[in-house]
Amino acid sequence: MKEQLAKIRTEALAALESVKDAAALDELRVKYLGKKGELTAVLKQMGKLTAEERPAMGALANEVRAAVETAVDKASQKLEEAALELRLKAETVDVTVPGKAPKLGHKHPMYMALDEIKDIFVGMGFTVLDGPEIELASYNFDKLNAEEGHPSRDWSDTFYFDADSRVMLRSQTSPMQVRAMETMELPIRIIAPGRVYRKDEVDATHSPMFHQVEGMVIDKNVTMADLKGTLNLLAEQLFGKGTVTRFRPHHFPFTEPSCEMDVQCHKCGGAGCATCKGEGWIELLGAGMIHPHVLEMSGIDPNEWSGWAFGMGLERTAMRRFKIADLRLIFENDVRFLEQF
Ligand code: DAH
Repeated sequence: MKEQLAKIRTEALAALESVKDAAALDELRVKYLGKKGELTAVLKQMGKLTAEERPAMGALANEVRAAVETAVDKASQKLEEAALELRLKAETVDVTVPGKAPKLGHKHPMYMALDEIKDIFVGMGFTVLDGPEIELASYNFDKLNAEEGHPSRDWSDTFYFDADSRVMLRSQTSPMQVRAMETMELPIRIIAPGRVYRKDEVDATHSPMFHQVEGMVIDKNVTMADLKGTLNLLAEQLFGKGTVTRFRPHHFPFTEPSCEMDVQCHKCGGAGCATCKGEGWIELLGAGMIHPHVLEMSGIDPNEWSGWAFGMGLERTAMRRFKIADLRLIFENDVRFLEQF
């Protein structure tokens, strides 16, 4: 029995010394230490021993068990370390490899121009408003004095949602004038930038979706001189000192008198070229003194209050600001173009 125990110890320790993986280790553990293992088999024979022999043999058996158990633990630890080593090697990070720099975009040039416009007007005490692109025809037309039958209400010009032409994609930001008059305390100074929609074919100066910035002031004793002064200041701050503007008489249903403001063409300096269609001037906005009837319809007494308003094309303004020759560049999102700003 003594020899059996010695043999188990020698064999087990040798086998454990060279064990290759976890499965093999488990097999060895069961083989030597398990309930049906070799050590148990030997211990079962203890009964055959005499009472004197038993304690010494018991002690020896325990010693062998302890030795095998220690060897199992050691082998298990060795395997774990080897596995970790392998993983560390596989996951090695080469800190000398050059990094991938994230490519950051930047603000679109049209929004750069808009931010400048906002800054200029906020500096003069204006509030910036945001309003719905899906608009009621009553706000887009009726309350702006454009009655039934006005050419701008035509189906061929306007995107309506319903057969009786009551809900539409706004064709101008001017309905924001009405929304401001209906909800704000007087006096009012607002600008309202946003998208507008018209049934236009795309070309160098047209798009079915474009942007406008509406502006409006209502106060006491407001005159056309205030309008011209403010818009000239805008042109100088946006396009540079000495920018030449001109005001031409025009007609809008919601202003009386009405005008349009042009700035001298940046491309040709007024001589006439493709960008300004030979005119020497670029039309930037429509404006005028708010029609008394428009004030009245929104509950403002035209005998006490007066006001002026304008609506400017944002794409055109950005084109003039950054000397861009074709409107389509603004929408095409060609990074080679956008990266220049
Ligand atoms: N809404 C006009 C347009 O889209 C532009 C305009 C003209 C706006 C005169 C105004 C204004 O506020 O007073 O053509």
